[in-house]
Amino acid sequence: MIHIDDFASGLSAIAEEDFTHGRVLEYLQQNPVDIATLSPYLYFSEEHYTRNLICHTDLFDLIAICWESGQKSAIHNHTNQRCWMGIAYGRVQVQNFQLLRQDPDTGFCELAPTSHFIIDAANPAEVDPEEPIHLVVNASSFGSRAVTLHIYSKPFDECEVYDLKARTYQVVHLRNTSEFGVLREGLALQRAHLT
Ligand code: SIN
Repeated sequence: MIHIDDFASGLSAIAEEDFTHGRVLEYLQQNPVDIATLSPYLYFSEEHYTRNLICHTDLFDLIAICWESGQKSAIHNHTNQRCWMGIAYGRVQVQNFQLLRQDPDTGFCELAPTSHFIIDAANPAEVDPEEPIHLVVNASSFGSRAVTLHIYSKPFDECEVYDLKARTYQVVHLRNTSEFGVLREGLALQRAHLT
């Protein structure tokens, strides 16, 4: 297990031309992070999962996402941008979707669920560039909080969010709950310590 600071330094040392699917996935597999060292970034909220920026470079953002049991993301995309996900605590499930139809003029969309898989300590994953629409859930049945480590390259701050039932979508601006351990102004969350 390594310290999150060493994990971030090692990731920063990967040259842009080597920042490939296989190399980053291998890096995640070979460098499990000691959850105790993530304490400065562990903010949980009963209302929503939290996004906690750990490291920002021109090439990538490293973000810890904290999930209370039962919390999930919206169905969203990662178009034109790569994303790897590893686990520092607990586990999560990813459900992928295929975009069948989309009309930017009306905001209409039609999606179909496709593959799903679990991300746990032994199995980090990359968002499939061919099928970049998914949701992430820390299912209640897992019975635990979860902390995922997300590497986004290049950094991004907006994505399309889809409503499966209403068959609509919109572009949503993503906001970090904390950056470099400092909570966004106006938020009152306690830091958690997990071991
Ligand atoms: C998010 O970035 O807010 C959602 C998690 C993900 O799929 O990367």
